[in-house]
Amino acid sequence: MDRRTFLGLTAGGLAASAVSGSLRESLAWPSPHQFQPDFMPGTPGVPPEPYQFPKDFYWGAATASYQVEGAWREDGKGESIWDRFAHTTGKIKGAATGDVACDSYHLYQQDVALAKQLNLKSYRFSIAWPRIQPSGAGTANQKGLDYYKRMLDELHAANIRPLVTLYHWDLPQPLEDKGGWPNRETANYFVDYANIVVEALGDRINTWCIFNEPSVFTSDGYDSGAHAPGRKDWDACLKATHVVNLAQGMAFRAIKAAYPKAEVSSAFNTGDAVPATNSEADRAAAERWAAFHNYWFVDPPLKGHYPQELATDQVLAAMGVRDGDMEIVKAPLDYLGINYYNRAIVADSPDRRVVHAAAHEPEQGPKTEMGWEVWPGGFYHLLTTVNDRYKPKAMEITENGCSYGDIPEANGHVPDERRTNFFRGYLGAVARAHKSGVPIRGYAAWSLMDNFEWAEGFTQRFGFVFVDFRTLKRTVKDSGKWYAQLAATGKLS
Ligand code: FCB
Repeated sequence: MDRRTFLGLTAGGLAASAVSGSLRESLAWPSPHQFQPDFMPGTPGVPPEPYQFPKDFYWGAATASYQVEGAWREDGKGESIWDRFAHTTGKIKGAATGDVACDSYHLYQQDVALAKQLNLKSYRFSIAWPRIQPSGAGTANQKGLDYYKRMLDELHAANIRPLVTLYHWDLPQPLEDKGGWPNRETANYFVDYANIVVEALGDRINTWCIFNEPSVFTSDGYDSGAHAPGRKDWDACLKATHVVNLAQGMAFRAIKAAYPKAEVSSAFNTGDAVPATNSEADRAAAERWAAFHNYWFVDPPLKGHYPQELATDQVLAAMGVRDGDMEIVKAPLDYLGINYYNRAIVADSPDRRVVHAAAHEPEQGPKTEMGWEVWPGGFYHLLTTVNDRYKPKAMEITENGCSYGDIPEANGHVPDERRTNFFRGYLGAVARAHKSGVPIRGYAAWSLMDNFEWAEGFTQRFGFVFVDFRTLKRTVKDSGKWYAQLAATGKLS
């Protein structure tokens, strides 16, 4: 199962996840053959308008601890839910694990040197909670903290801003054994962990990202089971969403208490929700899908309530919301972190629980190797929609990218033109949005280098840098050279 099957499963539906082809065609609006991709701005094959980004724009790239670090039980690190999941037969393509991955735990100096070579101004990476607290609680593991100190010092020496994610999916396994994210206590453990990190590393970090894609890790981890910890329990998933919102609000305040000037947010996954037809029912379904997929973790901090399309008393009770909780989840995020990969075609589906909507991948644009459609116009639409909804002070694209399997040729070059075209198109969408007033101040491409792609193992390569997973040799791809130019000049053409 593709982990993004969750697009179709977020409703917790028991029914098949896709609208059947013939039904889709008869309902499609506008119909696929009415699209003229070659003539529409923001569609594949259409070069972006040239654009000069501001000088202080944060050109960046992102990675995450479990996907790159390896060293899974070194220097006192505890087991994470991803260690356990990847070590379970049948969960990951090719029986791959993150035991070694890119070995960034040992090779981080090379990674920072590559970031420098790519002229990056910002590098987003995550801290592995079980390196800091092996059991998820109690005193800190100094060796784990020391690794991140070295990493941060290396970045500062290279004049690269660290953008630090506190949680990119690697929960300490002992906390999962106590109930995981559906257990309300996990929010308290998380804040203890956040406090340890802030105290030890806060002088080296100004920009924080509390959670990566809360909607993905709660849905895939507890509903579809495609990701760690692999549970398939809709009620647990709903509860987890609320506990994560509580933890987000609490961690926000913990960081601000120590460093009032710190910039704090999360990286929210977003998809452009396109109604399957122009019917009232499908348009409302697309709103509901967006409410659950895009806004479930953004409305609570910024508006102090869950999206009202979905949050009935019954749903709130099932989530375990208590009196006073909505004060805890509130947090005036300093910027909005946006992860964007794809559109979703959404149809009304009354049989599905809570969201009553079914989503599937569109078929209009070309596909990356992950099966995700290339359609930059969706990104522009999403950015302007999110901006209208929240009017944030600032936005950063915390992830966006594509998987193509290009490998080095005999001369050592990695010609990956499709990736360069992808980034040109999607950055064209960012440029259009920026030009129309969306306050985007940075862009983190996913990813600096090829890495462990969760349930897909090593079958999907998202990097600007090719990694040979047998030798760990890193080679900058042609797209990386292109991005280095862009990062140096800010000029997209
Ligand atoms: C995002 C994840 C990131 C990576 C990309 C391809 O959803 O946040 O870790 O796997 O997808």
